[in-house]
Amino acid sequence: MIKNKKILVVGAGGFIGGHLVKRLLNDENFIIATDIKPKEYWFQDFEKTKNYYSMDMKEIDNCRKVTKNVDYVFNMACNMGGMGFIENNKAECMQSVLINTNLLIASKENKIKRYFFSSSACAYNKNKQQDVFIKGLKEKDAYPADPEDGYGWEKLFSERMCRHFMEDYGIEIRIARYHNIYGPFGTYDGGREKAPAALCRKIINAKKNNEDKIDVWGDGKQTRSFLYIDDCIEGTIRLFESDYSEPVNIGSDEQVSINQMIDIIENISKVKKLKRDYQLDKPKGVRGRSSNNDLVKEVLNWSYEIKLKDGLKKTFDWMSNEISKRGSNINRFTKS
Ligand code: GDD
Repeated sequence: MIKNKKILVVGAGGFIGGHLVKRLLNDENFIIATDIKPKEYWFQDFEKTKNYYSMDMKEIDNCRKVTKNVDYVFNMACNMGGMGFIENNKAECMQSVLINTNLLIASKENKIKRYFFSSSACAYNKNKQQDVFIKGLKEKDAYPADPEDGYGWEKLFSERMCRHFMEDYGIEIRIARYHNIYGPFGTYDGGREKAPAALCRKIINAKKNNEDKIDVWGDGKQTRSFLYIDDCIEGTIRLFESDYSEPVNIGSDEQVSINQMIDIIENISKVKKLKRDYQLDKPKGVRGRSSNNDLVKEVLNWSYEIKLKDGLKKTFDWMSNEISKRGSNINRFTKS
């Protein structure tokens, strides 16, 4: 267990970053937390830490300030979202390269012991994701390089930047390739939401408004695997503590089509079967994607536990409560 360490979490105001801070605080670490969003827009609030800063980590001076006297750095920060965001904001997504680069330089200068980079399944070669059901992606499938345009190129390039900082300067590196992480405190409206949250929201709203139809992007046959946030955090901590420095999948191998995921959410919500209005002109991304977990099992002796239907139930219940508290379609996380 990581305990009694001084840890910088960059992107602490985001979805995964927020859950990570919570866990590291519970494990009795001293946390310095940063995010570009003003504090009132962070996804979670941490009473135990007073050391949080709203700052742009694309600026090297900010990176230098917060890496002083720190043991470990977790870089969970990037400008991201689901397909609706990354497909329409490629230049924005690629600028996150400045965060990782300047954070690595500052970490080297301030002699950080270990550095974590949150990469993505978007780093994988697109040609290996053209069929509806695919074999899970193995870590080597990122090469030859042909990742998701914009966001995926930034992730792959930044992985390599990490690797060279390890080779040339001796910083210990850990890299996770996350596969569509979902759960409570994730974005569910405003344009950055991923499919699990977007479809839970649509079904909650259809039920509330007595509508018999929802919009679905694409033909619904495209596949993904989705990992519940608690498993993501457990895998992240275990990877960080391991001695493995190459990229590792942190994902699920429970591959479902978007239609199958909608079936699961309809069951949870107890609505009658809704009509599906397939919108073929909306962002679709790759045709099929899933995680191969051989390597994670081998190096961490660990596998995720939460099945999609159980994770979706927790997410659905959380979101129903949020929507009844705040109202739906409130753009609560993207204001600045
Ligand atoms: N977002 C969203 N909203 N997607 C929908 C919807 C909807 O209402 N309806 C259907 N989909 C479909 C999309 O068209 C896409 O084919 C699939 O659901 C998955 O979409 P997302 O969850 O938005 O993105 P992704 O799985 O292609 O990529 C996400 O995960 C990656 C890691 O695996 C993104 O968040 C990436 O940024 C991330 O790296």
